[in-house]
Amino acid sequence: MSIERNSFLIGLLGGTLWLAAPPGMAAEQEATPDQVVSTLEGTFGIHPGERRNHIKGTCAAGEFIGLPEAARAYTRSALFSGRSVPVVARFSLAGGNPGVPDTAKIPRGMALEFRLPDGSLQHMTMLNTPVFGAATPQTFFDDIVARKPDPATGKPDPERIKAFRASHPDSLPQAEFLAENNPPVSWANSSYFGVHTFKFVSQDNKTTLIRWRFVPRDGEKQLSDDELRSASPSFLEDRLIERTERGPVRWDMIVTIGNPGDPEDNPTRLWPSNRKEIKMGTLMIVSAMSQEGAECKWINFNPLVMADGIEPTKDPILLFRSPVYGISFGKRLSGK
Ligand code: HEM
Repeated sequence: MSIERNSFLIGLLGGTLWLAAPPGMAAEQEATPDQVVSTLEGTFGIHPGERRNHIKGTCAAGEFIGLPEAARAYTRSALFSGRSVPVVARFSLAGGNPGVPDTAKIPRGMALEFRLPDGSLQHMTMLNTPVFGAATPQTFFDDIVARKPDPATGKPDPERIKAFRASHPDSLPQAEFLAENNPPVSWANSSYFGVHTFKFVSQDNKTTLIRWRFVPRDGEKQLSDDELRSASPSFLEDRLIERTERGPVRWDMIVTIGNPGDPEDNPTRLWPSNRKEIKMGTLMIVSAMSQEGAECKWINFNPLVMADGIEPTKDPILLFRSPVYGISFGKRLSGK
């Protein structure tokens, strides 16, 4: 089935849920959302009732306070009214292995659901890498296939990974970042990047290309090589719970303003470093808890759930994520 035939838009709870791939994109894409979910299951196994990706995670809660003076010229989103907006968050490790060690050199995620005063929702589903590892869904698909454990060793075959990298240059910038940067010591000591380009829409309908990231007030801190070898397989959840018990954990939301012509459809490419950056608000996480029985467990952090004032670009990865998350969510809801 082509992505094009899957395309549709529906409204959800006052936010707009875009479940679409733009016409014209499908011709170049081979992998479909169904195939990508099956491949994740093939590589990581099926864990009934659980996410097919980013399976290991921790729930958290807090609030966001936007800076109206900073944001007003760019977006009319109620996120930046200056009022406190409740947030449900989830921190996670990439991949579908529930036993993945917290020292693994793989991306970490921070997913946020902002609950706006009018009942609408804004989602932001980010990674701790400045770029993504695929410019097209096909690269993501081929990556997951290449990671399938070799039955003889129980680990991915390094030769297959090497061949994948050589044939998919769009996977290299993220792989290089992960190779050069040890994982963070805590979820509180990492930046998280929106990775995609989005559009801010102002009161007078002016559209601006932007990217966002959340920068930790606790500072960025990476595990040392010694800690990488000696750390227990699961320390991230306990550290976040302990940290929130000592007081709120804060991240500043930094928005980068794009120039006309900056790439808007390729999450593997950074923008030039001289772009204007504006602090538009602060996220405060006040509590953290195991995901079992907690609110974040049953949220579909679909990155296309957007409230008025923020819109998607035609980034093929961004648009492809939505139907994939929907399939994963539907399966886990029905206990599969
Ligand atoms: C083709 C590209 C991608 C595919 C196929 C994909 C697939 C998935 C799937 C199946 C889930 C689980 C959904 C659920 O059951 O609720 C997931 C979760 C997640 N993804 Fe992606 N993803 C992609 C790209 C990205 C990108 C670009 C980012 C960040 C910018 C990202 C960040 C996350 C995060 C943080 C979660 C965990 C959300 C949560 O806590 O519920 N993913 N992804």
